Amino acid sequence: MEQKRESWGSRFGFLMAAAGSAVGLGNIWRFPYMTGMNGGGAFIVIYLGCVILVGLSIMIAEFAVGRRTQLAAVGAYKTYSNKWSFAGVLGVLSGFFIMGFYPVVGGWSMYYIIKSLTGLLAVPEAIGDVFGAFIGNPVQPVIWMLVYLAVNLFIVARGVQAGIELAGKILMPILYVLLIIVTLKGFTIPGASEGLRYLFVPNWSEVTGGTFLAALGQAFFSLSLGMGCMITYGSYLNKEEKLPNNALIVVSLDTSVALLAGLAMFPALFAFGLEPTQGPGLVFVVVPQIFASMGGIGPLFSAIFFVALFIAALTSSVSLLEVCVAYLMDEKKVDRRKATYGTGVVMAILCTLSSLSLGAMSGVTFLGVGAFDFFDILTDKIFLAIGGALLAIFAGWFLKKEDLKDELTNGGTLQFGLFEVWYNVVKYVIPVLVGIVAAVGIASIEQTGLMLFGLGIIVVLAIFSKKL
Ligand code: TRP
Repeated sequence: MEQKRESWGSRFGFLMAAAGSAVGLGNIWRFPYMTGMNGGGAFIVIYLGCVILVGLSIMIAEFAVGRRTQLAAVGAYKTYSNKWSFAGVLGVLSGFFIMGFYPVVGGWSMYYIIKSLTGLLAVPEAIGDVFGAFIGNPVQPVIWMLVYLAVNLFIVARGVQAGIELAGKILMPILYVLLIIVTLKGFTIPGASEGLRYLFVPNWSEVTGGTFLAALGQAFFSLSLGMGCMITYGSYLNKEEKLPNNALIVVSLDTSVALLAGLAMFPALFAFGLEPTQGPGLVFVVVPQIFASMGGIGPLFSAIFFVALFIAALTSSVSLLEVCVAYLMDEKKVDRRKATYGTGVVMAILCTLSSLSLGAMSGVTFLGVGAFDFFDILTDKIFLAIGGALLAIFAGWFLKKEDLKDELTNGGTLQFGLFEVWYNVVKYVIPVLVGIVAAVGIASIEQTGLMLFGLGIIVVLAIFSKKL
């Protein structure tokens, strides 16, 4: 028997859930270190350009495709033609693989909440070693990852309204408040202005082709684009909602958190003479040193910061899990709970491998990299960009222009004066731009075997598209 499709309970609930998906480790963990490694202000300007030109347009397109078809990623593509199923499945697979390492980092954030209050900051010089020893430990991080994943399963098993939407409505406002508290505190540190200059005065001399690549990849990841996540969330949206407005709000919420995270970290980093170019360790090694320098209240601010990181990660991984679950529900008629727990078990195994690849099993590699890097490179460098380009091609060249217009103007009852601009950007600009960036990005992957493996998966999916 067909059950009625789930939907969002309110506009606010949808916005919080969608912003919850977008705002994640990408904003607080990845954005600051990418900014630090790519020259500061110039990277931010290029990133904002990518978000406005490419990100916003693709998000509008994903919402439109999802709400039009009332189906999650795979079903949405399939409505047009079986040949396109592979593009949706590629998205599901991306979500699945991102969930092969994301919960590991989510688990770290949980551990750091407690550790902040129990002595992490006591010896600032030792924080790097504490972090290294923790993530390399064969047991502790795996347990935290399992706890983290269990919270995800609990939320997604409860369904769209009672789980995902409720979590977003409660957690996202808290996240903003916490981040603002930490940011304001950072401003009060003498010498903070140096960091602001680094963030907002672009130094173009460090910009290379690689900067654009990094910025576009970051925009896709941060906005949860390129894998049907926003198609799925759009499919639970009612017909009265204005898609372009909602997309603009979600994009703004996401970008503001990225900038807030930068503002929370860089002024303090510079004030204390710490290195901004540290890479992935920035949040877990350098940032705690800032809190350590604050004296008695340091541990409290540190705990607040890592609660924020945990919340951000949680509402994102919930959306990644939902993409997999919605696929099984829509296409394979599995019920929600079974789909959730089934996928959860497999993700737990992948994450265990990822976690161990940073320590006990660091010698074990597949196609040249450990499990953690494997899932990261496969999704970030290969799947997401191709997924985004495919979506733009699908919307621009295969869907009927009238249908899209109908969807974006709610059957002609609304004005969307920019429709022609949006349509041409999706049809012509994005496929070319994202295509070039994807090609250059894929070509730059050092592990040739891994690159061929990733492309191979896509080819195989395309060949067997009709069976998916
Ligand atoms: N956007 C999230 C972040 O910034 C991660 C994420 C959630 C994601 N869903 C996604 C990334 C879909 C790509 C595609 O951390």
